[in-house]
Order: sequence, then structure tokens, then C-alpha cells
Amino acid sequence: MKDVAVSEYEDSIDFDALRGRHYNATVIERIDCHENLARFRIMPDDGVPRFQAGQYVTLGLGLWEPRLEGTQQEIVPANKRSRVAKRAYSISCPLLDDEGRIAPNESLDYLEFYITLVRAADGPDKAPPVLTPRLFCLGKGDRIAIGKKITGAYTLGEIAPDATVLMLGTGTGEAPHNSMTATLLANGHSGRIVNACCVRYLGDLAYHSRHMSLMDQYRNYRYLPCTTREPINMNPEMPGYVGKQYLQQLFTSGKLAEAADDPLSPTNTHVFLCGNPDMIGYVPPGGTPPSTPGMLPLLEQAGFRQDHSDEGPGRIQFEKYW
Ligand SMILES: Cc1cc2nc3c(=O)[nH]c(=O)nc-3n(C[C@H](O)[C@H](O)[C@H](O)COP(=O)(O)OP(=O)(O)OC[C@H]3O[C@@H](n4cnc5c(N)ncnc54)[C@H](O)[C@@H]3O)c2cc1C
Ligand SMILES: NC(=O)c1ccc[n+]([C@@H]2O[C@H](COP(=O)([O-])OP(=O)(O)OC[C@H]3O[C@@H](n4cnc5c(N)ncnc54)[C@H](OP(=O)(O)O)[C@@H]3O)[C@@H](O)[C@H]2O)c1
Repeated sequence: MKDVAVSEYEDSIDFDALRGRHYNATVIERIDCHENLARFRIMPDDGVPRFQAGQYVTLGLGLWEPRLEGTQQEIVPANKRSRVAKRAYSISCPLLDDEGRIAPNESLDYLEFYITLVRAADGPDKAPPVLTPRLFCLGKGDRIAIGKKITGAYTLGEIAPDATVLMLGTGTGEAPHNSMTATLLANGHSGRIVNACCVRYLGDLAYHSRHMSLMDQYRNYRYLPCTTREPINMNPEMPGYVGKQYLQQLFTSGKLAEAADDPLSPTNTHVFLCGNPDMIGYVPPGGTPPSTPGMLPLLEQAGFRQDHSDEGPGRIQFEKYW
């Protein structure tokens, strides 16, 4: 295509027609936790298909859509402006209905997403974030593209009713765990269910009060939030100073098992890891392990295994967000 000035090119594009062609869902509610973190409830035009807790779907917006003020600038070449950018998002779960009762995904007529705004690339050599600066411009009633297929192998699978389920997430990595938690509790799972979330600040725990309410209702449920950038994490002078509470340290020190009130033994525990790849610590064959080990090698040392052929206890599953 010949290089044309953006304004000249834009004149020739019917953006409303593009929206009509590509967008197939509506934002029915947006619940902001803070300016960089929100829950989006989205209703696909064709209704919510059946899916399993833990799965994901793509959301997309046209590159012609505006970006939120205060996010990194992005130059979209004129010949790419009519494209739709898509990203994968785990399907989260509000956990409770309006009466405070457990609300698994199948009881809802919308999909809930838990999304952090990436304002800028984390390095000068990296491309600016594409989707979230546009997504955070949306509000109730706005249209969006949603993938036709909900997919993903990060699911509960076969879990005995009395087994322990350990879910470790960073940031929005708690999203699939919320769906799994609601499913397990709604199905009467009797074993320990541990949902640990590591975030920078307490204010990054959008579902905190819902988890606390679930703990009141279900004796086998443990929600274990931890932070890394609060004064108790950063300032040794602070009373109650604990340093950075990485999930790895909580696991190796035994504090996680203590707080979970469960031995977290590989003979009876299924493990799910989701979010920041550095917390997960997957090293591809021939790759160099990071200086701070992630959860995978630590779990393996403790007798857990990454084994895709076997669904029994001791198995580790993970979902890296980038
Ligand atoms: C299977 C799967 C499920 C996902 N589910 C979610 C979800 O439920 N919620 C969600 O917020 N994101 C989720 N992501 C990440 C999501 O797909 C996008 O990458 C993210 O929203 C940023 O999109 P972007 O286009 O703005 O920036 P991109 O250009 O895609 O990403 C830029 C950089 O932002 C950082 N980043 C990306 N995602 C996150 C994140 N979640 N938290 C912190 N830093 C991040 C990374 O450093 C990444 O390199 C998921 C990713 C995968 C693969
Ligand atoms: N209040 C805010 O302004 C705010 C809050 C949240 C997010 N954001 C934005 O959201 C984006 C993502 O932030 P996020 O906090 O959701 O995700 P994140 O950067 O993945 O951090 C989530 C948690 O994982 C921890 N973590 C990082 N490296 C780890 C490792 N090697 N092992 C174990 N844990 C590790 C982080 O601790 P560390 O403290 O060590 O990073 C943090 O507690 C960023 O672009 C950011 O700008 C802004």
C-alpha cells in the first residue's frame, strides 16, 4: 500500500462500519478498583457459551480507537489503523451474587474480566502496550470484540472432593482462581481450597471483601493476600516489618502451609500458578534460570511435578500472562 498521511487515510475509512463488522459484545458494567485496575463485565451478543473455570478468551479493539490520556504514545501506521488488536484474558468471577451467596460462572449471564492497565512498556526497546490503554477508555454500553471460542487447558480437571487445591497468583493472575474457587465451593468440594494473591499494594486486591465473606461462609476456604510494596514490606523501621512477601518465600518458609492450615503435601495437593512469569519461573529447555527462583523449581524440590499426562495430586499447572 502506498504511504498516505494518516488524516487522508482516515477520511477514507468508515470506523462505524468497522465497529459494526468486528464488535460482537457490550460492556455492561465496569467496576474500578483504582485508576489502573478494573473489573469489566461483558455480554457477548450471542450469549455466554459454556466453558470451564480457568479458561480464557480474547478481547479486541480497533487500532483506530483512542488511547487513555496519560498512557504511552503509540504511532499506528496509516495502513494498520483499520486492524483489530486482540489479547487473551482469563475469565474471572465475582464469587458472590447480590445476596452474598456463592456465584459460579454458570450462574451468570455475563463474563467478568479483571484487568490491569499497562500504561507504558517496561523498557525503551519494547513496543507500547496496545490494548489496555484503549480498553480503559470504555464504559457501560461500549462495544468490543470478543473471541468466538473460550479456550485454555488451565482448568481444574479431575480433583478428588477431599484434595487440597493451592492457587498462587500475582496481580490479576487471581482471575482464573476466582472462577475455580467459585466452582469448587458451589460443587461442595470438602478439601482445603487455598487462594493466595501477591500484589504490590493492599489497594490492588479488588476482590478482598468478597474473599473474606467466602471465608466466613466456608470453613475449608483460605484467602491469603500478601503485598510487596507497602511500608511493612519496604521500611525496616516500620513496626511489623516483613520485607517483600513473595509467594516463593512464603512457601519455602512454611508460612504458606501454616496460614493455609494444611501441610500442602504433594500426595494430596493440586497446584495452580498464574500471572507474572517470574513468579512462575518456567525455564524452557536450554534456558537460563533467573537469579530469583520462581515457584516451579521450589515446588519440584518439594516433590510436586509438571506432568501433563497425569491429573493426580502433586501436579503443577501454570498460566503465564506474558
Ligand atoms: C492466557 C492469558 C490470560 C491473560 N489474562 C489476563 C487477565 O485476566 N488480566 C490481565 O490484566 N491480563 C491478562 N493477560 C495479559 C493480557 O493478555 C495482555 O497482555 C495485557 O492486558 C496487556 O495488554 P497490552 O496490549 O496493553 O500490552 P502488551 O503489549 O500485551 O503487554 C505489555 C507488557 O505489560 C506487562 N503485562 C501484561 N499483562 C500484565 C498483567 N496482567 N499484569 C501485569 N503486567 C502485565 C508485561 O510486561 C507485558 O510485556 C493474559 C495473558 C494470557 C496469555
Ligand atoms: N497503584 C499503581 O499505580 C499500580 C498498581 C498496580 C499495578 N499497576 C500497573 O499495572 C501493571 C502491572 O502491575 P501488577 O502489580 O498488577 O503486576 P506485577 O508487576 O506482575 O506484580 C504483581 C506482584 O508480583 C510480584 N512479583 C514481581 N516479580 C516477582 C517474582 N520474581 N517472584 C514473585 N513475585 C513477583 C510483584 O512484586 P514487586 O513489588 O517486586 O514488583 C507484585 O507484588 C504495571 O504496568 C503497573 O504500572 C499500577
